[in-house]
Amino acid sequence: MSDGARTGRPDADGARGSRSGPEEKRLQGHWLLAKMGKRVLRPGGIELTRRVIKAARPAKEDRIVEFGPGVGKTAEILLAAEPKEYVGVDPNKEGTQQLLETISKHGQARLQQADAKNTGLPDGSADLVVGEAMLTMQSDEDKLAIMREAFRILAPKGRYAIHELGFCPDDVPEDVVHDVSRALSRTIKVGARPLTAAGWKRLLEEAGFQVEYTDANPMMLLEAKRLVADEGFFGALRFFFNVVRNKAARERIKAMRGVFRAHKENINAVGFVARKP
Ligand SMILES: C[S@@+](CC[C@H](N)C(=O)[O-])C[C@H]1O[C@@H](n2cnc3c(N)ncnc32)[C@H](O)[C@@H]1O
Repeated sequence: MSDGARTGRPDADGARGSRSGPEEKRLQGHWLLAKMGKRVLRPGGIELTRRVIKAARPAKEDRIVEFGPGVGKTAEILLAAEPKEYVGVDPNKEGTQQLLETISKHGQARLQQADAKNTGLPDGSADLVVGEAMLTMQSDEDKLAIMREAFRILAPKGRYAIHELGFCPDDVPEDVVHDVSRALSRTIKVGARPLTAAGWKRLLEEAGFQVEYTDANPMMLLEAKRLVADEGFFGALRFFFNVVRNKAARERIKAMRGVFRAHKENINAVGFVARKP
């Protein structure tokens, strides 16, 4: 459980909701899903992750840094490439135990408990930086600060792969952006500030990157088909039974799915691979 959830004080990414009632009512959406057994916590599912990672081409000679590894699902995929090094950077402890279970089997992998804005890693010490579903929850200023930190720690020609929540189409009206951000933030209990695909690209370029690959997927995180694709048949079944048995979790997850469905025309998942020149 999060320190924030235990003490009522915010965690590094502000993990706090109302201070009373069951934990399921207070947890940020991704930690609630993780508590119910979900391992894939990004909007475009494992499908978009695989496409983006394939485009980023992790290889044996790579020093890989992952921002916000959560419970370690992408770490598993990245480590399958047997990279020279893997460093997961996450300031929060909710996913630590599961992440360590995955990475501790690999001698070249470690966890750095730090904010992605200030990793403490040396300049030019990575060849590939990956971050999924961790920028959307930051202010625009912090999104840029994290992208600049990725740029700083990457060696020249290094790649930065991201997978985040998007607004669509690119000319989505401002009032829709405002209303949907509010609805999302309320239900997942963390500030959700997606950008359009054009907005994500602009920010990557502002940080100094050249975008080489762009992709998108529908936002279907809590739909049965995507749950089975992400978690496997038995994983999805376990998740389903955990949710059915827990009233507070069931109500929250139903509300989250309701918001995703209500705004499905305007939200999607986007993926990019960008290069440091
Ligand atoms: C929605 S979860 C996504 C987890 C995982 N990347 C995935 O896609 O399944 C967000 C993750 O970002 C981490 N996070 C939030 N703010 C962060 C920050 N400033 N620096 C690094 N990680 C952060 C959280 O602790 C959490 O592990």
